[in-house]
Amino acid sequence: MLKLLDLALPIARRLDPEDAHGLAVRALGVFPILAGRDDPRLRVSALGLDFPNPVGLAAGFDKNAEVPDAALRAGFGFVEIGTVTPRPQSGNPRPRVFRLPADDGLVNRLGFNNDGMEAARRRLDGRAGRVGIVGVNVGANRDSKDRIADYAAGIEALAPFASYLTVNVSSPNTPGLRQLQAGAVLDDLLARAVDARDRAKLRKPLLLKIAPDLSLQELDELVLVAKKRGIDGMIVSNTTISRSKELRDLNAREEGGLSGKPLFALSTWMLSETYKRVENAFPLVGVGGIDSADAAWRKIRAGAALVQLYTALTYKGFGLVQSIKNGLGERLARDGHRAISEIVGADVRE
Ligand SMILES: Cc1cc2nc3c(=O)[nH]c(=O)nc-3n(C[C@H](O)[C@H](O)[C@H](O)COP(=O)(O)O)c2cc1C
Repeated sequence: MLKLLDLALPIARRLDPEDAHGLAVRALGVFPILAGRDDPRLRVSALGLDFPNPVGLAAGFDKNAEVPDAALRAGFGFVEIGTVTPRPQSGNPRPRVFRLPADDGLVNRLGFNNDGMEAARRRLDGRAGRVGIVGVNVGANRDSKDRIADYAAGIEALAPFASYLTVNVSSPNTPGLRQLQAGAVLDDLLARAVDARDRAKLRKPLLLKIAPDLSLQELDELVLVAKKRGIDGMIVSNTTISRSKELRDLNAREEGGLSGKPLFALSTWMLSETYKRVENAFPLVGVGGIDSADAAWRKIRAGAALVQLYTALTYKGFGLVQSIKNGLGERLARDGHRAISEIVGADVRE
């Protein structure tokens, strides 16, 4: 079945990227991919959870919690659904997703299109009791009068159904959202987010997802606040609004967040800078441009206890997940390591 879905890739590539994505989500639900058992060396213990492998599906693929179990069956060690906002919203006008095939990237300016937290709650409730780690990524409605209250509402409503929660303050496509990453505002946001999380019966890990476009001074301050508020982890990073001169594809001029291969260097550097500042207070999830076992390996060595990916799936298909896991296993064996945890941050410490 994996082959069937991957054979469909060249056809999907002729469609508008957003239509192709909608088809991919539906196809995953209808034609389940069954991955084999994971190499026990790939297990990761982090955030109080036991991950069968460190390779996760990043937020944005399954915004509405339609296929988390299918994605887990396809071999991901964990899946993050969302971003979910309290009320449904349609996002920005189409077209709003652009392929950059010459650079193996994507630009999107979706703007948190999603069915809202009630729909997500219903779908997640429908899978209650199933195994598999499913994180829930929450955000604020574009027209919200009190954005911080939106995060608190999402956390409170969805915590009972989430393995972990992510506070997403790093999407470039909701005007002003990333300003929530600045010191005093972030302090207020995290205080209220932690408070909302603590109102749930079970204590769920709370993560903060950041942009790769922060200055190092901004990162200093952000990490201080995250530590002070007792955040359980950080995800580094979301898409970038920057455009390097090396980009070849004309679609690089489109407004929005850039992801995929062109994001790898920047997001990995940001990850290692975050790792230095966090000093093992909590684990990091490394995201941005992972398209091979080598790229995943480098993210882990730059400080990631876990990794996530999205864009490379659109170019390489779901078979990529297995090939990354195989490659990680081979590298562990080659270097004489028994577990992923032994190499987390190795390049930063050296
Ligand atoms: C089409 C698209 C939609 C996305 N939507 C979200 C989202 O809703 N929330 C979020 O936190 N990140 C979102 N992301 C960002 C990804 O989760 C990830 O951080 C980023 O794409 C870098 O990883 P990648 O290079 O492997 O894609 C989206 C990315 C893409 C390409």
